[in-house]
Amino acid sequence: MMTDLKGCFITGTDTGVGKTHFAAALIRNLRRQGAAVRVRKPVESGCRLQAGRLVPEDASLLNQAAGNPEDLDLVCPYRLAAALSPERAARLENLSLSLQALVSACHTDKEALLVVEGAGGFYSPIAEGCLNADLAQALRLPVILVAADRLGVINQVLLATEAVRNRKLTLAAVVLNQTAPGPATKGMNNAEDLKNWLKDVPVAQIPFEKDSSADRLPAILEPVLKSLLSGRT
Ligand SMILES: Nc1ncnc2c1ncn2[C@@H]1O[C@H](COP(=O)(O)OP(=O)(O)OP(=O)(O)O)[C@@H](O)[C@H]1O
Ligand SMILES: [Mg+2]
Repeated sequence: MMTDLKGCFITGTDTGVGKTHFAAALIRNLRRQGAAVRVRKPVESGCRLQAGRLVPEDASLLNQAAGNPEDLDLVCPYRLAAALSPERAARLENLSLSLQALVSACHTDKEALLVVEGAGGFYSPIAEGCLNADLAQALRLPVILVAADRLGVINQVLLATEAVRNRKLTLAAVVLNQTAPGPATKGMNNAEDLKNWLKDVPVAQIPFEKDSSADRLPAILEPVLKSLLSGRT
């Protein structure tokens, strides 16, 4: 088991909630503060075929945000075509994807800050018989939970929070991401409501931004960045 990694594991309440969008902004902010960042999307499903190779879009975006410090083959060694959970997508290709293979793929420069993006949500299957939760636990990285800021998110975040705590992992932050433009449901304030339930966890809101390179993070995340930078999460 690896215990000496510095960084964080980006998970979500669901697929498509903005894990990559947020992770890229986080990575750019960490770099701006002087950190050397390494990224991993150890398995990516739904890769598109280009010139005979499967191209992992999330892994490319993350590596680009980190300044392309490593070859994409290291960032994302396991690439699957079907846009399904990695466990099922691998089975469709008659591959057996083990948790150990994903853990090994997350080995990197010990001095660098490692940002790992899972696949789907915290309890989504990511390898044969394993959930994202198992990977996060094996890596022993603090977790940042990303959720789409819409009606129903309080339930999703509190369920996921309980799951993260069951795994004895640190929940470093909850990120409520606005995944679509337009006004929020009238009167809704999920961030404020969640703060009452999650008193010791920062709850950040990320606005919808057309320009995905816009990456000013809310002030509430400053202590999270600081502890990541100092390796004290
Ligand atoms: N705050 C935002 N502003 C603008 N576009 C966003 C925002 N958040 C997410 N998006 C867009 O929504 C889509 C889904 O976001 P993203 O790919 O980051 O989700 P994900 O959780 O990483 O999904 P997956 O489970 O496939 O990894 C992307 O096209 C992304 O650019
Ligand atoms: Mg993603």
